[in-house]
Amino acid sequence: MAQRESWATRAGFILAAVGSAVGLGNVWRFPYQVGEYGGAAFLVFYLLLIAFVGFPVMMVEFAIGRYTDRNPVGAMQQIGRGVWSKIGWVFLVAGFVILSYYSVVAGWILQYTVIGLQGNYAAGGAGAQFAATTGGLTSVLTHAIFIAAVIAIVAFGIQDGIELSVKLMVPAILALLVGLAVYAGTLSGAGEAYAYYLSPDPGTIVSNWSEILPAAAAQAFFTLSLGMGVMITYASYLGEDRNLAKDGVIIVGLDTLIAFTAGLVAFPILFTADLTETTDGPGFIFVSLSEAFSNIPLGGILGAVFFATVAIAALSSAISIMEVVVSYLIDEHDVDRKVAVGALGTAIFLLGVPVAYDQSSSLVWLVVYDGLANQILLILGGLLLALFIGWVATDLGLEELDKGVQDLGVWGQAWIWTLRIPVILLLLVVLWQNATGVYESFVGIFG
Ligand code: PFF
Repeated sequence: MAQRESWATRAGFILAAVGSAVGLGNVWRFPYQVGEYGGAAFLVFYLLLIAFVGFPVMMVEFAIGRYTDRNPVGAMQQIGRGVWSKIGWVFLVAGFVILSYYSVVAGWILQYTVIGLQGNYAAGGAGAQFAATTGGLTSVLTHAIFIAAVIAIVAFGIQDGIELSVKLMVPAILALLVGLAVYAGTLSGAGEAYAYYLSPDPGTIVSNWSEILPAAAAQAFFTLSLGMGVMITYASYLGEDRNLAKDGVIIVGLDTLIAFTAGLVAFPILFTADLTETTDGPGFIFVSLSEAFSNIPLGGILGAVFFATVAIAALSSAISIMEVVVSYLIDEHDVDRKVAVGALGTAIFLLGVPVAYDQSSSLVWLVVYDGLANQILLILGGLLLALFIGWVATDLGLEELDKGVQDLGVWGQAWIWTLRIPVILLLLVVLWQNATGVYESFVGIFG
């Protein structure tokens, strides 16, 4: 078997992980979740969950990846016994499903970049324009273009493909978003928008916490790329001398900062424009925001820059999901990287076609894929990982986290006990709530 690949530099690993974390989750999903679940109240839960659930679970993935130097399926086969040896498959399946619809949404983002360049936002109505974007052959085509870009990067491998591309993409995303946020701050609706976004209403938190909590947890996992083995895979290309916790703090910090900044872009623009058509849910940035762009000065160009930024962010995430499934074929079946990428890319494209072609106004297939993968599989993956390191392979986790730190002190035990009780309990509750929610929405769709 060929020598396994590795990152060329520390920055390469951090940027790749940040690139994975920062994506549609931050710019497409986060603002509509904030909108749907009470503005700043959602933000409060989200931040707490990032720190106390997301970060500890990220450390679990890092530890397992670096300890085993393998893809998620192989890693769990190496260190787990009985059922534990099989749980890597949960990640692989989640990756497959997520990338298939992620790419479809990214394709719509590409279409909206072009619409902006043509100065055509909301031509014929923002809602109608979105409906025309999301179904039929154009949507299948842009899905194909996006997957092709993912294939092209991942085919070049860790250093020449992923590492090189994220070194260009992540700084670009940061610079563009900060620029947009500064501009948005000069708009007339900015003050009102900040008030909505930044001052949590205790009443909303108290009365709606049982709805906000599971949604915020699913969002925290999605945005940090947790629960599907991306961080296991990326850490498997890492040297032993690195301080995992330190890298993790940088990664989580940057991801959170970028999601927060996306809100600073979206809400002032929305509050400034006089909106006639607004949409909650997946259509939020497409319908509401593009209508807003059509109402403000230089909106076409601004929108094109915004959507192009989102497209870059989506690409740097999508390559990480692809790497999870590709690394499995390379490690376990010794398949040539280019062959693996081509075959898996085609399979993922096909799996996404129902979502891309779907012409229903409620985006039924998107709701089904997102519900299954994001609300159930990711949370399940995270729960299994927390159980495994928290209760079964504690020593392995501690030993690995200690490398590159020298002396973990009380932090090691603090980490294990956070996983053992609060993280597990919380994820159980969230999984239960999400499962019943997804079941009900499926009954609504198919029943
Ligand atoms: N973190 C990415 C985002 O926020 O868009 C999405 C994602 C990537 C989710 C990788 C899950 C994953 F494994």
